[in-house]
Amino acid sequence: MNSALYHVPVMPSEIQRYLITDKSGVYFDCTLGGGGHTKMLLEQNPGIRIIATDTDEESLKEVSSFAGSSGGRLKIYNDNFVNIRKVLEKEGIGKVNGVLADLGVSSRQFDDLSRGFSFNSDNLDMRMNKAQGLTAEQIINSLDETELADLFYKYGDERLSRRISRAIVSYRGRTRISSGKLLADIIHRAVGGRGKIHPATKAFQALRIAVNREMDSLADLLKQLPDVLELGARACVITFHSLEDRMVKNNFRDLAASGAYLNLTKKVLTPSDEEISSNPRSRSAKLRVAERISNC
Ligand SMILES: C[S@@+](CC[C@H](N)C(=O)[O-])C[C@H]1O[C@@H](n2cnc3c(N)ncnc32)[C@H](O)[C@@H]1O
Repeated sequence: MNSALYHVPVMPSEIQRYLITDKSGVYFDCTLGGGGHTKMLLEQNPGIRIIATDTDEESLKEVSSFAGSSGGRLKIYNDNFVNIRKVLEKEGIGKVNGVLADLGVSSRQFDDLSRGFSFNSDNLDMRMNKAQGLTAEQIINSLDETELADLFYKYGDERLSRRISRAIVSYRGRTRISSGKLLADIIHRAVGGRGKIHPATKAFQALRIAVNREMDSLADLLKQLPDVLELGARACVITFHSLEDRMVKNNFRDLAASGAYLNLTKKVLTPSDEEISSNPRSRSAKLRVAERISNC
């Protein structure tokens, strides 16, 4: 992929329009990645500051030099966004004027074969934070057949989960499965080709979500939003997976029912056809926005 594309943020004009309610406010970017959204927001809103987290140290290498030249307008923490309150405490800030979360992996992480996210990878790591948790290789080689099938079904909505887990367990009885390439091949042979998408797409997605405990982190973040949003502040969450979108949708609906929040996206926002053709990664993005309207 063209390296410039790594920094193309998803739904940029929608994020500018919905997130920025105070032109001199402080905002929190939970998922800094290549800094695409943050750079765009800092450029378009010269009066704002952004505090950002990313759990992946490698992702931050490039964007760190940008922070250095931002005149103090961007502060980066290599941390999980579940620590949003701790990070804000370190900054001496209680609440912010907006929170952005653009979930999942970045194109750079996906395309870097040494990270193990792709069908062509030589390893099977898949951890966003390489210092923590089990690798995909450990999970694939240790869960029993039913546990693997449940994982593929629960996080990948994979209808052929049982056939896939059976093939994995049979293969690993002979040889350890230690690369994305091999896993993709085993799945391909088990279920055959199915249309345009690679037959291992759903299983890989499910594995990545499990490795990084992505659903738990999102649930934790959503629970903390009321503690960190200033009156009038908005939370913008971009998801790429139906389970995540459902979690955000239900959370924003419940917040609105409390009377203290407005659900600004009863109808979810999606990228325009034009954006999808220029940035295919945006294809499955869904944006939901909630605004704090009372301190109760
Ligand atoms: C889709 S990318 C974000 C891209 C970014 N918005 C941009 O425009 O360049 C998602 C990023 O979130 C990070 N991430 C995922 N889960 C995280 C978590 N729980 N805490 C902090 N960062 C996380 C990933 O490491 C990845 O870099």
